[in-house]
Amino acid sequence: GLPERVTIYEVGPRDGLQNEKAVVPLDVKVEFLARLAEAGLTTIEATSFVHPKWVPQLADADELLARMKPVPGVRYPVLVPNERGLDRALDRGVTEIAIFGSATETFAQRNLNRSIAGSIEMFAPVVERALKAGMRVRAYLSMCFGDPWEGPTPIEQVVAVGRELLELGCYELSLGDTIGVGTPGHVAALIAAFEERGVEAERLAVHFHDTYGQALANTLAALRCGVTVVDASAGGIGGCPYAESATGNLATEDLVWMLHGLGIETGVDLGSLARTSLWLAERLGRPSPSRVVQALA
Ligand code: HMG
Ligand code: MG
Repeated sequence: GLPERVTIYEVGPRDGLQNEKAVVPLDVKVEFLARLAEAGLTTIEATSFVHPKWVPQLADADELLARMKPVPGVRYPVLVPNERGLDRALDRGVTEIAIFGSATETFAQRNLNRSIAGSIEMFAPVVERALKAGMRVRAYLSMCFGDPWEGPTPIEQVVAVGRELLELGCYELSLGDTIGVGTPGHVAALIAAFEERGVEAERLAVHFHDTYGQALANTLAALRCGVTVVDASAGGIGGCPYAESATGNLATEDLVWMLHGLGIETGVDLGSLARTSLWLAERLGRPSPSRVVQALA
């Protein structure tokens, strides 16, 4: 069966904007966050507290949090890789963070400058301190389906690293198809493998990039397996600067069109969201890759 309601975890301001060539002005970011909440999104990943040289597009994270006006009832998690990032987030009164690991050694090295084991060591005190401070901590796992340098990622390897991240104390694990190579059968097999090792689908979220046009089909496969949290980026913007061949995330509008068509509630006003993506596309100087945004324009 399918769920009655799906929680959309909006990553446009973080995953989307981190991959824009131009640095988006702070005013535009502030307005983008406000418009997303107005469209009915209730979980909006605002930015990243990573090294500013690694992701210059989000170097204004401290200022952004100081400037934005949080809407009551909306959650604004941020990415945090290490204790320095956690300190910055705590300084800004952040209440939810996400750590981000890799299922492959090559990407761990490229994205975090450490091995898989080294990155878990880096995350452990972050999660411990964040939980003590009363934060909610999500975990991402990248390259769950394939990696541009290592090829297909063995399912057992994904499950092993994913369980380690959850065991640190994270409430949810978001399975990232960073380069968009997964297909629906692979999604079902991966979720089944997690369940066999004691991780229920309720603790999993899915994070699809649409490089090969499989993101919606993969999402439907995940919903059929019991997943109810889906990551998406408004207008389909995004990618990962440290992953060759990664394109934008599944577009939130494309996701909402499918879910509403299936009679699944999201709380999102599609017209309002599409207008936001058109507005942002003008500021970014290129059309939104979302088919639904284009169709509604
Ligand atoms: P490092 O160079 O190994 O860091 O980078 P370090 O611990 O050796 O520190 C070096 C210097 O950086 C120190 O300064 C630190 O204070 C400073 P110094 O003492 O030399 O003057 N520093 C910081 N400054 C500000 N904020 C910080 C911070 N950390 C250290 N947080 C590090 C290690 C993890 C920091 C680096 O590799 C990094 O920032 N990586 C982030 C890469 C990234 O953001 N990638 C994109 C997000 S992941 C993604 O998009 C995938 C996802 O969407 C899911 C999917 O699609 O699969 C989530
Ligand atoms: Mg991503």
